[in-house]
Amino acid sequence: MSVLLRKRVLITGATGGLGRALADAFGAEGCKLLLHGRDAERADALAEALEDRHDVEAEGCAGDLGTDEGLDAVIEAMGAVGGVDVLINNAGIFPVGPATEVDRATFDDTFAVNVRAPFFLAQALIRASARHGHGWGRVVNVGSSSAFAGFPNTAVYCASKHALLGQSRSLFAEHRGSGIRVFSVHPGSIQTEMGRRVEGQEWDTFLDPAEVADFVVRMLRTESAMVTEEVRLNRFEVQ
Ligand SMILES: NC(=O)c1ccc[n+]([C@@H]2O[C@H](COP(=O)([O-])OP(=O)(O)OC[C@H]3O[C@@H](n4cnc5c(N)ncnc54)[C@H](OP(=O)(O)O)[C@@H]3O)[C@@H](O)[C@H]2O)c1
Repeated sequence: MSVLLRKRVLITGATGGLGRALADAFGAEGCKLLLHGRDAERADALAEALEDRHDVEAEGCAGDLGTDEGLDAVIEAMGAVGGVDVLINNAGIFPVGPATEVDRATFDDTFAVNVRAPFFLAQALIRASARHGHGWGRVVNVGSSSAFAGFPNTAVYCASKHALLGQSRSLFAEHRGSGIRVFSVHPGSIQTEMGRRVEGQEWDTFLDPAEVADFVVRMLRTESAMVTEEVRLNRFEVQ
């Protein structure tokens, strides 16, 4: 039996391309779902569809993760469902353009959504698991190939994903040996709306979001003493 069965999973950005695939994959695994999007109606509609498809409990929640209000709303939703066992920090933004044209608001928003929100959501999960005494929790940070390399016209995104990687590594080390495991998964370009904005690459070669999502579920299925702390999912035929 999978360790994930009936675990409550929060997926941020579940209404996006990879998020929907993750929601479907965790639903198929028998998890209870808390599905976040910026728009409450879309998040609720997705939850309803997955409840029907997989015969699991699913609820929507909403909030702009670039703001304190939005972040607080998602943390409240975690409490309202009785706590979350697995957090998938998937929501992200991807500003594209020359570094000379980046303004401060774009820089701050990117770090707020891609770095700050994942940190404070992980903190909320870890605090709650200690409070409830079970001490079990899983956090997956969705990074990117941009956590390991720099690409033109995406300096702020690359910086944010490098920062998210550093954060993941620290949280992993801080909780090593406890019931809390922190993973980071770094896909190359994926066939989603965000992927359409990747410049200079062939869409047909991009990763299938369902395959990435299945990998994440498989990675979390085991309680083994061997852990997939950090993984890069690249396209085989192109760099
Ligand atoms: N696509 C790629 O090529 C690629 C490659 C490597 C890594 N990734 C990473 O994969 C993750 C998912 O991306 P994707 O490809 O699925 O992109 P996507 O289809 O554009 O989805 C992005 C998700 O993030 C949410 N989001 C954006 N801004 C937000 C904000 N301020 N507050 C809360 N939520 C916000 C969106 O919410 P709404 O649904 O409400 O718009 C959406 O659900 C991201 O972390 C991304 O960096 C993507």
